Amino acid sequence: MKIVVTGGAGFIGSNFIGYILGEHPDWEVTNLDKLTYAGNLENLKDVHDDPRYRFVRGDIADRDLVGRLLAEGCDVVINFAAESHVDRSIMDASPFIHTNVVGTQVLLEAARHHGIRKFVQVSTDEVYGSIAQGSFTEESPLCANSPYSASKASADLLCLAYWRTYGVPVSITRCSNNFGPYQFPEKLIPLVISNAIENRPIPVYGDGLNVRDWIYVQDHCCALEAVVERGTPGEVYNIGSGQEKTNLELIHTLLGLLGKPGDLIEFVADRPGHDRRYALDAGRIGRELGWAPGHPFEEAMAATVEWYLQNEAWWRRIKSGEYAEYYERMYLHR
Ligand code: NAD
Ligand code: DAU
Repeated sequence: MKIVVTGGAGFIGSNFIGYILGEHPDWEVTNLDKLTYAGNLENLKDVHDDPRYRFVRGDIADRDLVGRLLAEGCDVVINFAAESHVDRSIMDASPFIHTNVVGTQVLLEAARHHGIRKFVQVSTDEVYGSIAQGSFTEESPLCANSPYSASKASADLLCLAYWRTYGVPVSITRCSNNFGPYQFPEKLIPLVISNAIENRPIPVYGDGLNVRDWIYVQDHCCALEAVVERGTPGEVYNIGSGQEKTNLELIHTLLGLLGKPGDLIEFVADRPGHDRRYALDAGRIGRELGWAPGHPFEEAMAATVEWYLQNEAWWRRIKSGEYAEYYERMYLHR
């Protein structure tokens, strides 16, 4: 099977490529990635020389390039490429519209013209917005609250429209918060781990009682594999682990694993429009595709902390580059 993976140099995409090349000796992967600040070919060093793997640098919104790639013959497109950080979308929404909305439409159009067998859109639980009690099903209305989630919700609607109007065989996945190796250190977990190792303050937005459902990235990859292989066109699949934590609970777990004190925590101004709680009913993907998460929170979190301890050079390089300027700006801004 020939797969085009977009955004494969980012956190989840690179984990996915490593995972499926390991699981499927007969799959071939072309990774189309623009290499924005979040794309890093170092994440793919283990597959770089694999003859079944090819990297193409480019923008998913580049019609000619995307058209040429899909014309080469491809069975499945799986779209990870996105601007993915909520705080950045609050500073400037434009790149989110370009990549997440326009880029997705360019991919859909090319998939339509080249008769792609399956198109998997990697979306997010954030499209449903916040929920005080209970959990969102795939039928819950979309209620995006940040420019990031609004751009992802727009892409979801375009995907469903391309299925209903043109029959492009799109399946959409909406996953909860991922953690694991190669996550860019602007996101909460790698930020906490790396700041704690450096004895730097840990910025907690608002009262720190916002709740997220945390899933190990390998469980997400495994769920995506099930959707690629057995997902129904036109269907949406929630992916979650049910492992809900407040941000403060999570941060204390990480500090405990690292043997660092709680007084590194620093409460800072809240994120504007900050969603209070995300929670998903992930029953459909279990019932219909036989997927279930396999990594308990404590074990996976300990493995993740260990990975960042063993791979200091990886995150130190990122934190000392242009990201340092962004972090200072974020911090001063608060
Ligand atoms: P990431 O920011 O780590 O990686 C994004 C990748 O996309 C980078 O390699 C970047 O270079 C690439 N990219 C950005 N714009 C591009 C463009 N125009 N053309 C080609 N490539 C481009 O993101 P991530 O955390 O790995 O998330 C991947 C996908 O999963 C996103 O679509 C995101 O919305 C979704 N998602 C993420 C999470 C999470 O917890 N991280 C949860 C649910 C869904
Ligand atoms: O739910 C899925 C989403 O999870 C994905 O779609 C997004 O791409 C991904 O970035 C993530 O979004 P969040 O906004 O939930 O993740 P983030 O790591 O930015 O923040 C997690 C929580 O921690 C959130 O409540 C905000 C808070 N936070 C975050 C940072 C970076 C802090 O308190 N301090 C921080 O410095």
